[in-house]
Amino acid sequence: MKKIDIIAGARPNFMKIGPVVHAIHRYNESATEQITYRLIHTGQHYDKKMSEDFFDQLNIPKPHINLGVGSGTQATQTANIMMRYEEAVKADKPELCLVVGDVTSTMACAIVAKKEHVKVAHIEGGIRSGDENMPEEINRMVTDSITDFFFTTSNVANENLKALGHAEGKVFFVGNTMIDSLLGNLDRLQKPALVDENNLSEKSFLVMTLHRPSNVDGMESLRQLLEIINSNVGDKKVIFPMHPRTKKMYDQLGMNYENLIITGPMSYLEFIYLIKNALGVITDSGGITEEATVLGVPCMTLRNSTERPETVTIGTNEIVGTNPENILPLLEKLIAGNWKKGGIPELWDGKTADRIIDIIGKL
Ligand code: UD1
Repeated sequence: MKKIDIIAGARPNFMKIGPVVHAIHRYNESATEQITYRLIHTGQHYDKKMSEDFFDQLNIPKPHINLGVGSGTQATQTANIMMRYEEAVKADKPELCLVVGDVTSTMACAIVAKKEHVKVAHIEGGIRSGDENMPEEINRMVTDSITDFFFTTSNVANENLKALGHAEGKVFFVGNTMIDSLLGNLDRLQKPALVDENNLSEKSFLVMTLHRPSNVDGMESLRQLLEIINSNVGDKKVIFPMHPRTKKMYDQLGMNYENLIITGPMSYLEFIYLIKNALGVITDSGGITEEATVLGVPCMTLRNSTERPETVTIGTNEIVGTNPENILPLLEKLIAGNWKKGGIPELWDGKTADRIIDIIGKL
């Protein structure tokens, strides 16, 4: 397939599509038949710090089209993306629509493409948390149900797709494009100003991110989580770059926590610097558990499930849940530097995007 749409909408998409765009340019240098692409930003994330800064730091070209959908309820966002992407497909039909991850933009564009008889490829297809309360799980299920070509990150994903009845010939185990971005940028990391401002030495701090609706949309659940962490980190500090959704609720809490260093969304190169140099990571994200695994940094996931089990079975991640009684013993272990050592999952080697583009070139 030589004419593709690449879809990106929200922050965790950008580090996954960057390597793919770069791989297309490399492929075209020696290919007899060029792959042409349109980079389509849905506008699901629109703040400079949640979007544009990632394009700049990861040298991703400006999107050809920005659908500019902005925020809204799940249905509003989905509907707006679908209506606007449908126009873009009708105006110039690709042969393949390449979606990544599990955000609303992923599902919405996959549906539009499929109904316009455009083949759908899903990078990071096949992963499942089993928790249908998360919008991302619905997005994964719907997207995969209409995907023609799966590019998978793990053997677990391959098995999931097999169990769902997808033919093996549609499934390509290629590795993880987010890890391409990670490994490709390790020598470009930037120390955020707050490290020196707070006199933080290596391993004297933790990094925390929380943005799942179940953790941050209720004032009581957020207060409880922040209190237990703030009170049990000993002499360590916790750097907490807040997602806008978390910030809204945090501002309503009106609390001050002496061990938390609160800041806004971080740029990619600064955030990875923090993870790499942290004693440990506390998160409810999925992608960050993969980055912590590859960097060998201890990671506690404040959720009850994960769609990335290899970060636990192979990597440095532990699923801790959100119950304070479960968090406390693991937090103590982490602060004591008493964490398990991890390995790196198969094919998370920085070459995934080239594998994907080689396959697409032959489809
Ligand atoms: C989305 C993804 C989630 C991913 C997360 C990472 C879905 C269902 N969820 O969640 O999987 O882990 O991105 O960031 O797609 N907002 C801003 N500026 C922005 C974007 C959002 O202020 O640039 C605020 C808005 O008030 C918005 C809220 O954040 O209502 C939530 O944004 P939304 O895109 O709905 O979902 P996320 O929680 O960011």
